[in-house]
Amino acid sequence: MKHIPVLLKEVLEGLDLSSGNIVVDATLGLGGHTRQILDRIGPAGKVIGFDKDERNIKLAKENLLEVKDRVEFVYSSFAHIGDYVKEPVDAVLFDLGFSSVHVDDPERGFSFMYDGPLDMRYDQDQALSAETIVNGWSKEDLIELFRKMGEEEYAPQIARAIFDARRKERITRTLQLVEVIETVVHRHGKQHPATKVFQALRIAVNDELGEVEQGLESAIKVLKTDGRIAVITFHSLEDRLVKRFFKASDELEVLTKKPIKTSSNEIKINPRARSAKLRIARKR
Ligand SMILES: C[S@@+](CC[C@H](N)C(=O)[O-])C[C@H]1O[C@@H](n2cnc3c(N)ncnc32)[C@H](O)[C@@H]1O
Repeated sequence: MKHIPVLLKEVLEGLDLSSGNIVVDATLGLGGHTRQILDRIGPAGKVIGFDKDERNIKLAKENLLEVKDRVEFVYSSFAHIGDYVKEPVDAVLFDLGFSSVHVDDPERGFSFMYDGPLDMRYDQDQALSAETIVNGWSKEDLIELFRKMGEEEYAPQIARAIFDARRKERITRTLQLVEVIETVVHRHGKQHPATKVFQALRIAVNDELGEVEQGLESAIKVLKTDGRIAVITFHSLEDRLVKRFFKASDELEVLTKKPIKTSSNEIKINPRARSAKLRIARKR
């Protein structure tokens, strides 16, 4: 199983890598970026790769078998980079969100296209899942979640529909939730009616925004002076957070006034790259 690395050329250039560098890949995934980073930094270089999904760590180990001596695999959230990385590093990459295996495997519950358990946890050892939120949170909390993390204009109607549905029967499956959403949202056009609610649930289940903030703080601490940090985001909430964080940090010089976006060619080959944005900064 592979994952096509997004904005690869731009990431490699932006990180300004050279032979012998030590690089943190904060979101190892299936190792797509790491493999190319290793090519750039050569036999004396090393990647420390984090993922909070143990299954992806296993897949990355398989994909990177021939270069495994130059990779340190860490099963942990990038929020804790500082607990594991004890030497100053030359570059840190964050390629946020889910990987292709998450959406393609119905059993992980990330996709509104296939039936599966309402899960959405990157870390299978975590207790909180989408099912817990959908069945346990109050109507008011669901409205706020769908509004803030999904930017969903029909948040109150959807929360009410969920509330009514779960009084009759626990909502345990992705398509059961989609059916409930479709009773109140009838969107035409490209976006599926459940897109925003699924985004909001995924963010909440994995505390994505909180972890990104902690991860960036942690990354700055381990970076050498002049070291580079690159972040790829896939939705506006995340991109806004990274933009503000970079701007507010005295320790960073922002190298991308505007985010770098994917070319139409890349989107043709990899439609998931459509909404990707890359921001790069240098540690002062
Ligand atoms: C878009 S994928 C990365 C793909 C990778 N760059 C590649 O080319 O194969 C994002 C990965 O980050 C992981 N992830 C999400 N949140 C995380 C966190 N807080 N800490 C560590 N890993 C995280 C996901 O499990 C997923 O495997």
